[in-house]
Amino acid sequence: MLNVLDLHTYYGDSHVLQGVTMHVDTGTVTAILGRNGVGKTTLCRSLVGLTPARAGRIVFDGTEITRLPPHRICAMRISLVPQGRRIFPSLTVEENLAIAGRTRASLASSVSEKREHPPGRPASPAKKPMIQTMTARAARLLGARAPLLERAPSWDVRKVYAVFPRLSERSGHRGDELSGGEQQMLAIARALVANPVLLVMDEPTEGLAPMLVAEVGELIRRLKDEGTSILLVEQNAAFAVKTADYVHVMSKGQIVHSSEPAALWANQDIKAQFLGVPRVDPTIARDVPVERKGR
Ligand SMILES: Nc1ncnc2c1ncn2[C@@H]1O[C@H](COP(=O)(O)OP(=O)(O)OP(=O)(O)O)[C@@H](O)[C@H]1O
Ligand SMILES: [Mg+2]
Repeated sequence: MLNVLDLHTYYGDSHVLQGVTMHVDTGTVTAILGRNGVGKTTLCRSLVGLTPARAGRIVFDGTEITRLPPHRICAMRISLVPQGRRIFPSLTVEENLAIAGRTRASLASSVSEKREHPPGRPASPAKKPMIQTMTARAARLLGARAPLLERAPSWDVRKVYAVFPRLSERSGHRGDELSGGEQQMLAIARALVANPVLLVMDEPTEGLAPMLVAEVGELIRRLKDEGTSILLVEQNAAFAVKTADYVHVMSKGQIVHSSEPAALWANQDIKAQFLGVPRVDPTIARDVPVERKGR
């Protein structure tokens, strides 16, 4: 689904991503793990076009997206849940979601109308297709293949409220009146309203109490079961290992280890060197078990 090949990204002269190569398979949860400052967020930003890479390639469902602007990448149905949530604090839950929905609709219609109605020949309102159809068509016009889109669930505000009943109850509250957990749910809900087939989640459990971390885990499993693929960036290695189907470990702007989660968790050297997980003596301590995950 997503292939990243030898990606190099800079902030000015600062060379942050130094040849990242990784992949996400369709229908999986794939985790990126690594310590502070290794470039995880920069990778997310490059994937969605916010900090474009200077070299290397990002290929999504067979189409190169490396140098596409963020709105084109969004129209291809890749959404980011940013680190630190970044919801609008002065807008209500409803308004935060409405903005995401409106952006999706205008993206789809602008791409669709540009291709189908040359200047001077406006579209007939009666013939305008549904938003969902337009989004699929927009992505197809941009080069994505149909099967990926057809397999993925379709999201709108009503469905998001069904998944997050607490947000529905608090729909009239401002962003800054929500708890940390509710804000995180709103950030995820907002990304879902953009109707992704690939959801990129940058540290969704950061700052959450253990009960809420478990809730985020449940939600990720549910999204996967319904057909959304997920790239999960985490510092919480134990959580990521329990939640993901495949893991990549990052250090100094490169991927230094890729494997199934169980193989990573059994590798004391990698865990100690790149994730700061203390070594354990198997004769006196029990390691965190890796749960079996259905695909
Ligand atoms: N806008 C920026 N301008 C310049 N340097 C930046 C910018 N954003 C990040 N950096 C630097 O790039 C490097 C990678 O940062 P990045 O945020 O990608 O790391 P990270 O792995 O997400 O870290 P964390 O775990 O703290 O979220 C760091 O050295 C950081 O200081
Ligand atoms: Mg980060």
